[in-house]
Amino acid sequence: MTYSVESVTKFYRQGHARVRALNGINLKFAPGEHVALLGHSGAGKSTLFRLLNATIRPSGGAVLFEGCDVGGMSGAEVRGMRRRIGTIYQQHNLVPSLTALENTLCGGLGRWSLAHTIRGIFRPHKSDMEKALNALESVGLADKRQARADELSGGQQQRVAIARALMQDPEVILADEPVASLDPGLADEIISLLTRLAAGSRRTLVISLHTVGIALERFPRAVSLRLGSVEFDGPSSEVHGERLRNLYAGGNLVSEQPTHGSGSHNNFKRIS
Ligand SMILES: Nc1ncnc2c1ncn2[C@@H]1O[C@H](COP(=O)(O)OP(=O)(O)OP(=O)(O)O)[C@@H](O)[C@H]1O
Ligand SMILES: [Mg+2]
Repeated sequence: MTYSVESVTKFYRQGHARVRALNGINLKFAPGEHVALLGHSGAGKSTLFRLLNATIRPSGGAVLFEGCDVGGMSGAEVRGMRRRIGTIYQQHNLVPSLTALENTLCGGLGRWSLAHTIRGIFRPHKSDMEKALNALESVGLADKRQARADELSGGQQQRVAIARALMQDPEVILADEPVASLDPGLADEIISLLTRLAAGSRRTLVISLHTVGIALERFPRAVSLRLGSVEFDGPSSEVHGERLRNLYAGGNLVSEQPTHGSGSHNNFKRIS
């Protein structure tokens, strides 16, 4: 399913001022494509994710989902679209007092009525239960299904958040800095899990990362935003030399070394 943004601009109100978060950007994501989104703090990455999952509307331009303008969709159509998109955040937003399994079952919420939701979590249908257990299994946490979320480590909690997104069986996974609060080893593990799970089911994966090394090593396409505009969009293999230095210039991107692969990006250094 194709997914695109065309000439998208987004303004926010901050008191009396207007902040331009995105400045007429054009991007197209092909079905099954894996894309790393880079950009300094305030570049507009989270705004782009919120537009892509229809949490917010653009101030100008259009978000097109399978060629349909999201702005022209009815409420029911937007909800239908959202069900096909799994979003994972830096803060995993688990319910601390629920178990890993119950949190995973929450991934079905978008499909359920309120009554079904309450029953669905505490007395789930057999098919939902099987789906949730499969999701937990695929992130390697089947044995932790009865552990409360607040008893899990940071990496385990993020894996539950991935399982919860998988519960939707999404065609698109949007991950906004999903590993920013994890140590580098765990971050790499989670990213590799996400890319594997996405590749296995031909899901589109768009992920924002501030660890440039891992992004370029693991994702064939890189998009970098700067001050609300697309600064680079192309093969990760083309990000080196001057382009790579420009990417780091004046911001918070870091040169976390990839722990696998060819090591061809070994010369990253932090410039901030
Ligand atoms: N709800 C909001 N209200 C007002 N301004 C906002 C809002 N959300 C974001 N902004 C502004 O829009 C710009 C882009 O913010 P955004 O959160 O998209 O950046 P980002 O690239 O995700 O940054 P970070 O790497 O820090 O998460 C920033 O200048 C920010 O202050
Ligand atoms: Mg952000």
